[in-house]
Amino acid sequence: MRVDWLSLLDYRSYHTLEWSPEPGVNLLIGSNGAGKTNLLEAIAYLSTLKSFRSVPDAALIADETDAAVIRSGITSEERDRLIEIEIPSQGSRRTQVDKTRLKRTADLLGVIRVVAFLPEDLDLVKRGPAYRRDLLDDIAVQLWPAAHLDQAEYERSLRQRNAFLKAGDRDDVTLSVWDSRLAQAGGRVVARRARVVETVTPALSAAYAEIAGEAAEAVFTYRPTWDVELGSAGAADYAELIAKGLEASRRHDHERRATSVGPHRDEPGFAIDGHEARTHGSQGEQRTMALAVKLAAHRSIADATGEAPVLLLDDVFSELDAKRSSALGVALPAGTQTIISSARPEDVPVSGRSWQVADGAVR
Ligand SMILES: Nc1ncnc2c1ncn2[C@@H]1O[C@H](COP(=O)(O)OP(=O)(O)OP(=O)(O)O)[C@@H](O)[C@H]1O
Ligand SMILES: [Mg+2]
Repeated sequence: MRVDWLSLLDYRSYHTLEWSPEPGVNLLIGSNGAGKTNLLEAIAYLSTLKSFRSVPDAALIADETDAAVIRSGITSEERDRLIEIEIPSQGSRRTQVDKTRLKRTADLLGVIRVVAFLPEDLDLVKRGPAYRRDLLDDIAVQLWPAAHLDQAEYERSLRQRNAFLKAGDRDDVTLSVWDSRLAQAGGRVVARRARVVETVTPALSAAYAEIAGEAAEAVFTYRPTWDVELGSAGAADYAELIAKGLEASRRHDHERRATSVGPHRDEPGFAIDGHEARTHGSQGEQRTMALAVKLAAHRSIADATGEAPVLLLDDVFSELDAKRSSALGVALPAGTQTIISSARPEDVPVSGRSWQVADGAVR
C-alpha cells in the first residue's frame, strides 16, 4: 500500500503542492521550518483523519485562507483509490473516496494505513499514560477501522457521565444509565487493546533485539483502574467488570465530580526482561523500546492485513546515538513505502530518493 501522489491546497505552509513519492524510501531534506513535518502530517491525516500533532483541524488551514484540501492517489493490492478531504474553517469536513462523498468521515479509515514515528515518540515510555493509551487505540484503528466508533462512543459517554457528576446531582438511577453505556463502550475499547497487545507482542522482542543489539524479552504491561487481568476475555466480560468498578467508585466519583475508573485512566506500559520500562529502564532502553514498538506495530499490521502500511519517520535519526541510528536503519522494513524527514541528510543511515523541501515546494 502506498501513496502514489499527494496534492495539497492551502494546507499549513503549502499553497499548492503536487508530489509523487517513490514506492520505496524517500528522504525529505530541508532546513528547520521548511515544511517537512507538515507534509508527513498531511499523509498521516489521510489515514487517521486527525493531526499527529494533536491539534485541532483549524490549525491545518493555511493562514488567511478558508479551507485546506488534501487529495491523494493510493495504490494498494486490493485496488487503487482517490481520496479527497476538504477541511473548511466554517462547517464540517468533507471526504470523498473515488468521487463519492462518504456519509461518515470515519468510513475513510482503513483506505490507507500509516505508521508514523515522531521525535516525541522516543519518550513514549516515560511520558504520561495518555500517550500509551493513544498508541494502543491508534494501532487498533489501523488494524480494525471500526475501533474508531467504539472509541468515539466511549469518549462521548465519558463526557456525559462527567457532565452529570459536575452538575452535583446525586441521582444514582440516572448515573447507572450512564454507567451502563460507558461500560459497554469501554468493554469494546479494552477488548481491542487486549487484541492489539496479543497481535503486536510476538514481533516486539525481535524488534527490540534488532535495535538494542542484544536479546531481551520485551512485552506490553497494562495496569487497569478496575479489577481485571488483560487477556482474551470478550468485550461483554470486560464491560461487566468496568460496570462493577464504576459502581464501587461512585461515592468517590461524586466527590471528585469526575470518572476515576475505566479505560481512559488505565496505564499501559512495557516491560524489558521482567522490569517495568517506565520505572526501571535506562533512558537508552526506554528509547529502544519506543522504536521497537513502532517497528513491531508496522510488521504486525503488515502481517494481519497482508499489506505493509506506509512508514513515516519524522526527524528521528538525528535524535539517536550512532549505534541505535544505524540499527534502526538496518531494521527498517523492506517492501515498504518509507518517508523520512531530516534537516541533516548526513544523519540518515539509509539511501533513497532525495527530495529538497523549501519555500512551500518539494523538488
Ligand atoms: N496553518 C498554517 N498556515 C501557514 N503556515 C503554517 C501553518 N501552520 C504551520 N505553518 C508554518 O509551517 C512551518 C513549519 O513547518 P514544519 O513543522 O513542517 O517544518 P519542518 O520542516 O518540519 O521543520 P523542523 O526541521 O524544525 O522540524 C512554520 O514556519 C509554520 O509557521
Ligand atoms: Mg519537523
